[in-house]
Amino acid sequence: MIICITGASSGIGEATAQRLSREPGAELVLVARREDRLRELARSLPRATYVAVDLTDDDAPARVLAHLEEHHGGRLDVLVNNAGAAWRSTFADGGYENVRRTMELNFDAQVRLTEVLLPLLRAAQPSTLVNVSSTSGRVARAGAGAYSASKFALAGWSDSLAAEERANGVNVALILPGFIATEGFPQKELPGFLVSAPAVGAEAIADAIRHRRAERYVPRYYWLFAALRILAPRLVRRFVAGSGGQRLITATHPGDPHKPPQAGT
Ligand SMILES: NC(=O)c1ccc[n+]([C@@H]2O[C@H](COP(=O)([O-])OP(=O)(O)OC[C@H]3O[C@@H](n4cnc5c(N)ncnc54)[C@H](OP(=O)(O)O)[C@@H]3O)[C@@H](O)[C@H]2O)c1
Repeated sequence: MIICITGASSGIGEATAQRLSREPGAELVLVARREDRLRELARSLPRATYVAVDLTDDDAPARVLAHLEEHHGGRLDVLVNNAGAAWRSTFADGGYENVRRTMELNFDAQVRLTEVLLPLLRAAQPSTLVNVSSTSGRVARAGAGAYSASKFALAGWSDSLAAEERANGVNVALILPGFIATEGFPQKELPGFLVSAPAVGAEAIADAIRHRRAERYVPRYYWLFAALRILAPRLVRRFVAGSGGQRLITATHPGDPHKPPQAGT
């Protein structure tokens, strides 16, 4: 089983690589920018190769495809679109530029990679595409509009793609994590009981692949926030605008530690 995981150099992606490497016959393809991290992780796993690439580069999808053809016989059973980041900013401060760069990584890069690899997933049916969105893809907070827009977009696109690819044997699973302590999302200001470890996200991804799930919140009970957003939008808006919401914003959107800030943010 050939499994490609983007954003595998840290956090949920790294934990997912470690978790899925235990699946029988798993061969992993690790994708991210930091080659040293990928090399070290690949060495620690039984069967893994890596592609060090910036997924926002024009030729990134072609490079991942070429790697799969050269090292894994052009086969792909599972693609985990996990790479992503957040740059905290109000719309008034960050403007379109912040929305553009967030969409470029969290949405466009997933769509572009999937476009190039979908024929391989179809050929390997039954196969799986996992898109890592966020609970922020159901409930938006102040200071996180660009991030939420990208994750809402990923959720909507996943539902449509799932319906289209069902007949082709490609299950499209959506993962919606809540608060998970990682490099990009340290969650230091939240009480511990609200924050999960990356391994919990990895287990949810493994479960979604094994049971061909449609979607999984992490932890599971976070679906309540999504339901509340539909049932009581005014209440949710009041919470998000109040002190509870402000605390969550600070805690969850520190910015991408691996990429320097750009003009306007
Ligand atoms: N942690 C949370 O609380 C939480 C909650 C909801 C959703 N999520 C989502 O979970 C996913 C994983 O995040 P994480 O929490 O594990 O954060 P993380 O530890 O910062 O991991 C992000 C991964 O994305 C990779 N990446 C970033 N920019 C990239 C680029 N331009 N090209 C290729 N790879 C890139 C990073 O690797 P390099 O820097 O080496 O490129 C890293 O491996 C993200 O999509 C995030 O939005 C996280």
